[in-house]
Parts: sequence; structure tokens; C-alpha cells
Amino acid sequence: MLKNISSESILAALGKVQEPELHRDLVTLNMIRDIEIKDDTVTFAIVLTTPACPLRGSIEKQAREAVLAIPGVKTVSIKMDSNVPNDGRTRGLLNLPIRNAIAVASGKGGVGKSTVSANLAVALAQTGARVGLLDADIYGPNIPTMMGVHDIPGTQGNKLIPAEAFCVKLMSMGFLVKPGQPLIWRGPMLNSAIRQFLADVEWGELDYLIIDLPPGTGDASLSLAQMLPLSGVVIVTLPQAVSLEDASRGLNMFVTLEVPILGVIENMRGEFFGSGGGEDLARIAKVPFLGAVPMEQAVRVGGDTGQPVVVSRPDSAAAKAFQALAGQVAARISVEALTQKAAPTIEVE
Ligand SMILES: Nc1ncnc2c1ncn2[C@@H]1O[C@H](COP(=O)(O)OP(=O)(O)OP(=O)(O)O)[C@@H](O)[C@H]1O
Ligand SMILES: [Mg+2]
Repeated sequence: MLKNISSESILAALGKVQEPELHRDLVTLNMIRDIEIKDDTVTFAIVLTTPACPLRGSIEKQAREAVLAIPGVKTVSIKMDSNVPNDGRTRGLLNLPIRNAIAVASGKGGVGKSTVSANLAVALAQTGARVGLLDADIYGPNIPTMMGVHDIPGTQGNKLIPAEAFCVKLMSMGFLVKPGQPLIWRGPMLNSAIRQFLADVEWGELDYLIIDLPPGTGDASLSLAQMLPLSGVVIVTLPQAVSLEDASRGLNMFVTLEVPILGVIENMRGEFFGSGGGEDLARIAKVPFLGAVPMEQAVRVGGDTGQPVVVSRPDSAAAKAFQALAGQVAARISVEALTQKAAPTIEVE
């Protein structure tokens, strides 16, 4: 006889399991779906805020243990699912079904923004998220080379169809001009180029659009932040102390633009450049430190050959670092999205 097993008792048990990033329980967060009880077997789905959730395994384990503790339950079958929340910022002006837009920036050039953008995008896509990668470096586009694609499929109506590699949709000025051709832009042209990359490209529905910015604190970053409300920005910096000043300048520009800083990534950690610059910057700026990527030859070779290291050497330390970073970035986006939503609630009597 099954005495205690009911949807209510299951929800009560799961109501005690906390989502560690969001600091609320799975029931309050509306993450539990499709509860079914058949004899002594309980089946349900947990809908996370990102397929890249770094704590997926531990959430599943805790939920399973909570339900198994109900007297009479012998078997628990959990379907792990996800639904990435929209960050609540309106992209209505451009009419884009993009749930979150994440810029990758730095204070100075050559620190690995494009490398980080490409690997983050692919790592997120590998978890099952719908991902786009916009190369906003219209002066020196590197994404086509790094992702190993050199053409877009064409147009559909009056929209450009993005290229695709490793399940990531791509757009870059590199697809539209011949290699080696100099790119000279004046202010208004730059604005319209970026606008076209957003509005005139058939991105489709995306959970995450990763935007690789040009180096420094120039016009492109400003245009973007004004045109497309960003969910947040990731700051890439090198390990050595002298990079700190440049990186702080980059970071402060986004603070001024009121773009949430998702955190700092230290790239090229190792014997050559040392380590610690990322943590220092994060501490000084009071933003999260997201993680470090080691300096590895495979990362550079991956970029040169169009096979990001998360694809070409998925077991390398660098690839593992990028996978972990993807989880961290996605988790920060979930937190931003939920706090953003909570903020404007106004009670009217
Ligand atoms: N972790 C790493 N280990 C080894 N090489 C790396 C690493 N990260 C980036 N590189 C290499 O460093 C060079 C610069 O990287 P990348 O082009 O990504 O920097 P960037 O910040 O986008 O540069 P720019 O400011 O010119 O756009 C590339 O050759 C890349 O392959
Ligand atoms: Mg670059």
C-alpha cells in the first residue's frame, strides 16, 4: 500500500533542496516539472536555468536523495532539462530573439579575447545551448580563421544567413571582405556595420550570443553597448601586474556604461607570464574571478587551424579550463537574469 507518496510530499521534499547559485529552493524557482508516481517509482524533470550548469550533478544528486528519503519510494528517475532565462533587457528595438548577449572585452590587444570567445561559444554549444558568436572586431576579424570557416551560406530574403561551425552560428566582417583587404571605418559606418550584424543577420533563437570585441575602449564597444543591451561583459586579462592598469581601464568603461561585469578571466597563465593578475583585478574591482586558462601551445595551434582547443584537445588543461569557464559564465548570467527580473517588481495597492 502506498501511503506517503503524493505530488505534495515530493514537492515538500524538493522544496528543501537549494539551487546553490541562486540561493533558493527548486520548487520556489519553479524548476520541478512533470511529476509522475507509478508504484514505488517517482519520475520528474528538473528544469535548470542553463544546460551548462556547473552544479548540475550535485543538484540532481540532492534531489534524488531528498525524494528517496520519502517512505515507500524505491526508484527515482530524473530528467535534467534547461530553459535559459531571458535577461529581461529589451532587445525589442532590434527585434531579436536573443536571450542573453555577452561581450568579451579587454583593456588592450592580444590578450586572447578572440580565443576565449571562440572556446566559450563552442563549450556552451557542447552543453546543448543555442549559441551565436559575433565577431565585432571589424578592423581585424579573426573569428573565421579561429573557427575554420570562411564564407556564409548566403542570404534569405534581405537577411544574411550566419555561418556555422561546431554548432555555433557565426558572423564576422571577415566573411564579407577579401582577406588582407584593409578595413577603414568612420564613426557612422561603424555604427551601421554593427547594427547590421545584429539586425540583418538571421540569428534565430539564441540562448547566448557571445560578442568578441576589438581591443581597447574604442567606438565599437560603445556602439554595441548602446545598440544591444548587454547581459554582461567578461574581461580578459593577462597574469602579469603591468596588464592590470589596461584591464582596469577596460573594465571601468563598462561600469560607466552600466553593463554588468560578469567577471574576470586570466588568460595565458604559466611560467612565462606568471599568475595572479586576474585575481588581483577582480579583487580591486570587486567583481567575480571566473577562472584562469593556462598558456598552452595547443590553444594557439587550435586558433591557427580553425579547431578551437575544446574541440581539438578536449582533455587538455586549457580545454578543461574553458569548459569550466563556460559553466561559470552561464551561472553568472542566470544569477543576473533572475536578479534583474526581481528588481523592477513594484507593488501597487
Ligand atoms: N591560453 C593560450 N595559450 C597559448 N596561446 C594563446 C592562449 N590564448 C591566446 N593565445 C594566442 O595568442 C594570440 C592572441 O590571441 P587572440 O587573437 O585571441 O587575442 P585578442 O585579444 O583577440 O587579440 P586582438 O586584441 O588583436 O583582437 C593568438 O595567437 C592566440 O592563439
Ligand atoms: Mg581578437
